[in-house]
Amino acid sequence: MHKDVEKILMSEQEIAECVDMLAKKITADYQNKDLVIAIILKGSLVFAADLIRKIDLPLTIDFMQASSYGSGTVSSGKLEIKKNLEDDITGKDLLIVEDIVDSGNTLFHLKEYLKHTSAASVKLCTLLSKPDRRETDVEVEYIGKVIPDEFVVGYGLDYNQQYRNLPYIGILKREVYE
Ligand code: IMP
Ligand code: MG
Repeated sequence: MHKDVEKILMSEQEIAECVDMLAKKITADYQNKDLVIAIILKGSLVFAADLIRKIDLPLTIDFMQASSYGSGTVSSGKLEIKKNLEDDITGKDLLIVEDIVDSGNTLFHLKEYLKHTSAASVKLCTLLSKPDRRETDVEVEYIGKVIPDEFVVGYGLDYNQQYRNLPYIGILKREVYE
């Protein structure tokens, strides 16, 4: 285990089972749809890479970068779109893939923004959710795992851009950011 990690919250195997479960639901729900996976950079890169390979449907991928976070651990509540989708989404069924829903601010604003495009539908999928921290009541259609109010890293999730390459999800030691 990494020296800055307090405890493993999800092992590689647990993550794989969770991704399988989500992919099965998505595969069942998006039959005969025109699925576009909108990958939210950078955090959901690792999750999305595993998820799309388990979805047994034709699909395309596109990338967005938006955040309500600076370099710290507290959400600013504002949405900044740093990179927008590139492909035409007219009539497409958009599935936004995020790593974690914390305050809910990022996804709420992103979903509202995308609902006002010409997409046929807009739904959200997140690997992790911290409901205790929710400030905005955003509807998330697919949730991998509900976790307690702890700061987690690994499997794409960062603290100051570090730890994204850990193969598991771990709770970061408080002394690292306090
Ligand atoms: P929200 O707008 O507060 O829901 O923030 C969502 C974003 O904050 C996520 O996409 C992550 O980038 C970041 N975030 C929230 N909680 C954590 C965490 O525990 N570890 C790493 N990043 C986090
Ligand atoms: Mg992040």
